[in-house]
Amino acid sequence: MDSLLIKGGTPLHGDVTVSGAKNAVLPIMAATLLTGEECVIRRVPKLSDVTFMAEILKSLGAEVKIADGTLTVRAAKLNGVGDYDLIRKMRGSICILGPLLARLHKAKVSLPGGCVIGSRPVDLHLKGIKALGAKVTIDSGYILAKAPKLIGADLFLGGRAGPTVLGTANVMMAATLAEGVTIIESAACEPEVMDVANFLNAMGAKISGIGSPTITITGVKELHGAEHDVIPDRIEAATFAIAAAATDGEVTIHGARTDHMHAVLDKLREAGVKVERKGPSLVVSRGRSLKPVDITTLPYSGFPTDCQAQMMALMMLTNGISIITERVFESRFMHVSEMARLGADIAIEGPSAIVKGGAPLSGAAVMASDLRASAALVIAGMVARGQTLVKRIYHLDRGYENIDDKLRGLGAKIERVQET
Ligand code: UD1
Repeated sequence: MDSLLIKGGTPLHGDVTVSGAKNAVLPIMAATLLTGEECVIRRVPKLSDVTFMAEILKSLGAEVKIADGTLTVRAAKLNGVGDYDLIRKMRGSICILGPLLARLHKAKVSLPGGCVIGSRPVDLHLKGIKALGAKVTIDSGYILAKAPKLIGADLFLGGRAGPTVLGTANVMMAATLAEGVTIIESAACEPEVMDVANFLNAMGAKISGIGSPTITITGVKELHGAEHDVIPDRIEAATFAIAAAATDGEVTIHGARTDHMHAVLDKLREAGVKVERKGPSLVVSRGRSLKPVDITTLPYSGFPTDCQAQMMALMMLTNGISIITERVFESRFMHVSEMARLGADIAIEGPSAIVKGGAPLSGAAVMASDLRASAALVIAGMVARGQTLVKRIYHLDRGYENIDDKLRGLGAKIERVQET
């Protein structure tokens, strides 16, 4: 297993380009199963989750090629049984359920496992496909879904924590080939869901209300091959913006969709960070001094849970108290105990973390617990005095393309080492 060895204290300076969005490309890859024709997806980030999803598509019988950021999939012949172990390991793979059911009228997909950021149920995914007429049973760790014919329906997909991102994508994909009209209320409005819907429309689907909480899908008989450019990763862009501010550097971020980043950019400005648009790029530097801000994570267009840990790293450096409240995933504070090893003063009170910022950070060996927590530890490590070793960075490789190369390009003293 690889670790990242970081020597703290170097401000980030220079230019970085954002890769394609992980959370868009995974369901888009699943959507290619809805047709037997060739689909070409561009701006595909080089991530282990993408490689993993490609393996899942192959295990279902699809031909898959990836070269230079372009993915080609032809799912001419498909079997409806996903490899149990492959699917179980990656949460995002649940979104093959809707496409397989729509195309083959049956699907057998292993239940995705739990996760350190909290329980990750799939009840809303199942509620959605049941509303379209599927019979669903759980047997030996598999979801078995059957529907000789999917029929459009009105359904409400809001859960305890609000809408579901992959659940919306899953049900929307299933509904593209259903008979009649499906209306999803309390649909997720995330840009990644919009990107999936735009790809489906390019394949011949009839989806309206994209980006709103009410999505209407008029079923069609079949979908065809299509080409698509994946949207830039707003979470990666935000991570670089926060890292620029944390290290007191200045970074120009190219290719970011600022219209997908309002909540994060607004909080950064409130915290005193200088965020300027220069043509299509974003220039971020710390500004005069940092101020503590309170943050509550919410579904889009609220502050994204996927930026909570990184923002906590910034607040650790800010004199004063900030309260970070997690409303999307109840246990997403695994990074707090690792941050404490670096010297952070953070207390958990129910769904909130109370960050007493300003304590000096000093390097230590820390353990990455999930993807975004790992990014936050890297940010903290780049600021801490001395050396920080971030262990288990396979989490980072799941969702950040060449993160160590990109950070080195900005001047960070960071190297990949083998764990002993
Ligand atoms: C996606 C993202 C993840 C992000 C999350 C929230 C991908 C691959 N992953 O995950 O990076 O952190 O959105 O923005 O796109 N829930 C239920 N029942 C369900 C499904 C979800 O109760 O059937 C709950 C979850 O436990 C959570 C909330 O709904 O509390 C939101 O989860 P959801 O939007 O589904 O997250 P994912 O789509 O899995």
